[in-house]
Amino acid sequence: MSNRTFTMIKPDATGKGYTGAILDQIIKAGFTVKAMKWVRLTEEQAGLFYDIHRARPFFQELVDFMISGPIVAAILEKDNAVADFRELIGATNPANAADGTIRKLYAANIGENAVHGSDSDENAIIEGDFFFSKLERF
Ligand code: CMP
Repeated sequence: MSNRTFTMIKPDATGKGYTGAILDQIIKAGFTVKAMKWVRLTEEQAGLFYDIHRARPFFQELVDFMISGPIVAAILEKDNAVADFRELIGATNPANAADGTIRKLYAANIGENAVHGSDSDENAIIEGDFFFSKLERF
């Protein structure tokens, strides 16, 4: 069990002005920010980040959405970080997300779902390394 996960606040949520409220909810849930940046991905970068989904029918839609505005990328720390963060954000499809979860509160649909959370300790490391150098994490 690792104590770190990776998240992005996606363009729908940054564009609607939800960034502060989402970060507040994350911090109040006990996560500590170990790295953070506000960036706009290029098409190539978004495609590389979601490379595992390249064969899926929604891949291009996902990439187009992820480059439609800025995102906030962050590495978060907490005991049992990956599982606890996925519980905090709720199901991928906000229609199935539990009340009070970030996606239930702020997401519109399965594509525009407000936040990303790593699905495993291994991917948390890969995804954090994608965005942050050693100098940018604490
Ligand atoms: P995320 O947790 O960032 O990981 C992969 C993303 O693909 C997911 O959130 C959704 O935003 C997106 N996604 C998954 N399934 C679909 C779908 N059926 N249609 C559109 N986007 C999807």
